[in-house]
Amino acid sequence: MAHLETLISAEQIRARIAELGPEIRAHFGDEPIVCIGVLKGSFLFMADLVRAIDGPVSCAFLGVSSYRGTRTSGTVRISHDLTENIEGKNCLVVEDIVDTGLTLDYLLRTLNTRNPKKLAVASLLDKPSRRQVEVPVDWVGFEIPNAFVVGYGLDLDQIYRNLPYIAIYHPDE
Ligand code: IMP
Repeated sequence: MAHLETLISAEQIRARIAELGPEIRAHFGDEPIVCIGVLKGSFLFMADLVRAIDGPVSCAFLGVSSYRGTRTSGTVRISHDLTENIEGKNCLVVEDIVDTGLTLDYLLRTLNTRNPKKLAVASLLDKPSRRQVEVPVDWVGFEIPNAFVVGYGLDLDQIYRNLPYIAIYHPDE
């Protein structure tokens, strides 16, 4: 049987987000921030993070699909685009995890063409050992080892997103 090994508890997630919120607010001063949640994986992180940031915050979402023919190449495209104009605005991309970096690299290049005032990134998780492209991540919740994780928004075939903690997924041996 596959089993789940807790890597980051709900309490650790809560405590880390309580630190990130004020850091993000300090970076942007009193100005409005458009938080851009990358669906679906970031939906819980986004919900908790925006509540930890004081002052004017708006919420926007976009969906990306990655097609991975092999583990080393990926084609990313936007499946659901933003409905708001981000030109001249302070934007914070809210990601669940940065793995190879391909998704974020594509997203940042695309969003930058829309001329935001600032474009920063907060990712709950970071797997630096898997990086294929250098991407700027301004706030990382937790660096994790090279393991497949689920929970708190992250899925395996759409399952496990509802777990309140992050777990390493160990498949059947
Ligand atoms: P990247 O383009 O390789 O950086 O991958 C980003 C996307 O891959 C994330 O937004 C996740 O949807 C997915 N992903 C990468 N690693 C994991 C994992 O360990 N568990 C679940 N999803 C993952």
